[in-house]
Amino acid sequence: MTDLVQLTSDNGIALITINNPPVNALSPGVPEGISEALDKIAQDDSVKATVLIGGGRTFVAGADIKEFGKMTSGKSRGAGLLPLLMKIEDSAKPVIVAVHGTAFGGGMELAMAGHYRVAVASAQFGQPEVKLGLIPGAAGTQRLPRLAGVAKAVEMCVSGNPVNAEEALRFGIVDRIINGDLLAGAVAFAREVAGKPAPKTRERIERLGSATENALIFSVARETAAKKQRGLLAPARAIDAVEAATNMPFEEGCKAEQKLFIECLFSDQSKSLIHVFFSEREVAKIPDIPKETKTISVRSAAVVGAGTMGGGIAMVFANAGIPVLLKEADQAALDRGLATIQSNYANSVKRGRFSQQIAEERLKRITPTLTYGDFPNVDLVIEAVFEGMALKKEVFKDLDRVCRPGAILASNTSTLSIDEIASTTSRPESVIGTHFFSPANVMRLLEIVRGKSSSKEVVVTCLQLAKTLGKVGVLVGNCRGFVGNRMFGPYRREAQFLVEEGAGAEAVDQALADFGMAMGPLATGDLAGLDVGWRIRKEYRHLEVPGIRQPFVEDRLCELGRYGQKTGAGWYKYDDQRRAASDPAVGEFVRKWVEEAGVVQRQISAAEITDRCLYALVNEGARILEEGFALRASDIDIIYINGYGFPAHRGGPMWHADTVGLKRVYDRICEFHRQHGEIWQPAPLLKQLAEQGRTFAEIGREQGATA
Ligand code: NAI
Repeated sequence: MTDLVQLTSDNGIALITINNPPVNALSPGVPEGISEALDKIAQDDSVKATVLIGGGRTFVAGADIKEFGKMTSGKSRGAGLLPLLMKIEDSAKPVIVAVHGTAFGGGMELAMAGHYRVAVASAQFGQPEVKLGLIPGAAGTQRLPRLAGVAKAVEMCVSGNPVNAEEALRFGIVDRIINGDLLAGAVAFAREVAGKPAPKTRERIERLGSATENALIFSVARETAAKKQRGLLAPARAIDAVEAATNMPFEEGCKAEQKLFIECLFSDQSKSLIHVFFSEREVAKIPDIPKETKTISVRSAAVVGAGTMGGGIAMVFANAGIPVLLKEADQAALDRGLATIQSNYANSVKRGRFSQQIAEERLKRITPTLTYGDFPNVDLVIEAVFEGMALKKEVFKDLDRVCRPGAILASNTSTLSIDEIASTTSRPESVIGTHFFSPANVMRLLEIVRGKSSSKEVVVTCLQLAKTLGKVGVLVGNCRGFVGNRMFGPYRREAQFLVEEGAGAEAVDQALADFGMAMGPLATGDLAGLDVGWRIRKEYRHLEVPGIRQPFVEDRLCELGRYGQKTGAGWYKYDDQRRAASDPAVGEFVRKWVEEAGVVQRQISAAEITDRCLYALVNEGARILEEGFALRASDIDIIYINGYGFPAHRGGPMWHADTVGLKRVYDRICEFHRQHGEIWQPAPLLKQLAEQGRTFAEIGREQGATA
């Protein structure tokens, strides 16, 4: 027996315990251990039934995700779990699976092979494979419909969302909920069923439904998946696999599932989603910061400025249970800010996201104020006043004066230098950027901007705080636009150029939406407000290099008062519900302006649109990496997926470039360079990797940049 699995017995009931901390993943050694235990049990006449349980805090929370990568790279392709599950089900003595924590993925499949399942009330069951672009690969799609019915099986395998024990009981996944000690309850259950014939899940057909009922379930599921999980392979394949359970004998259904599983496993989508899974865990690893670095405890916070961002950030703290002061410059602005927060909470209650009571508790954690009076008591302050260096410096001087030593002083600036802001304080080591994305209470991304003096404690605290706040914090360096917005500039520049060169605004947005972006770049501009970029461009016009092409159409739209959604018109026109419709006037304006500027319009393909916009991201991303403003290419991917609506199943812009092949991306960028000039100068790092036949992912693993 491996040390991952133990066999003991309790007066005629054998007990198999899986002990593979932290989550009892089905790593190599675990299935073998269970199998050996079953052999011993079969030979032991004193044993009448078996309880299979997880040691520690959970049953089996899933497969070992690293194994998937080994399978696709040809390093491991064992028999998988299927033979073990058959062996459990064929065992002459009943096997009772006892579940606490989570039975997810392979863990759920393992549980379903048992003859009975008992669970504590807090247990959860699920087939989340679809979230990694996969489908269950150990008969989950075959056994689940036999236990829970076809509709529930489809729902669980397609959404990947878990059910709790009570729902699992209702749907026949669980046979009994154990109140009190799980093991004792499971052993008692085992004594009740010992000696009786053990029902095999795979032989149960009573819940498999009729062909007519099922046809409807499958067609509705396919339609919904096509709409809600647009472009994704795994949900469609999960439906195919459950369908196989309804029209094939079990063994053939398993073969069909295997084929579909392999198709998903080797797909770029699954590889990308697995990359995202690991990259999200990697972001918190900062090469020059030792693991044992102390953190600063953040029990209370303050936000300066109750505008769009400040109000949202205060909600983020309140939602996470951290009391927060919200300071404004005058009463009217404070009232406006609070009214927005209240209406946001009221909307969430109306939509059923949480109860009125929870909304009130959250609201109570936000203390409005017009003074710095209570600031000496807080552990962290986030400044979110208007974007202007002079004002920010004034605020930081005040904070330096009133806050206690050691308190973290953070700025939500989106463009200004953290070092310059820090320089106005007597404690630059306590100053850092925390760049939230709008709406701050919704968007998951938090760019943490490390200034040249930010202390390691402050950096680590902010990374940890991001988690507490339900965000994914990515450490970036202090450059203009930091990482996300710095890349977004060239991306949106190309979108505008494409319109000037003859592509319709709708065609540009559609091409990128078809690629999988949550929203096209021009519609995104309308949402954020075209005037934001216009103001910045006006302010920085003196920095523009003469002779370098600049987009001009958005500035012209702004001159017409078309700022986007907030003025009812931008690239599109909007009704009072902010629903977009195309506006033929825009096309006409553009044609006129372009003619005046002497630009010749032409037909532009969807492929050119996506290549130009996406490779503009990649080229800038490569520069950022090379300059050390991001630690890893995968950090950039996480930024784009969580802050900019980049499709996770493409893995992020840098991973996408790796998938296309850097040589191809580089060649295309060289082509754009020849056609469009200097702005397309290929990033040296991209050139180097393309010539060496390497990838961004590779350098991410070996280089520790200095972000
Ligand atoms: P906003 O204009 O909505 O709000 C700024 C608020 O600060 C106003 O309510 C103003 O009354 C208040 N304020 C000004 N001086 C103050 C003082 N001395 N004390 C207290 N309050 C004061 O601006 P928004 O959009 O919320 O931006 C705030 C910061 O967040 C800026 O630095 C901006 O660049 C950054 N940011 C904005 C994003 C956005 O999408 N709007 C996204 C990410 C960052």
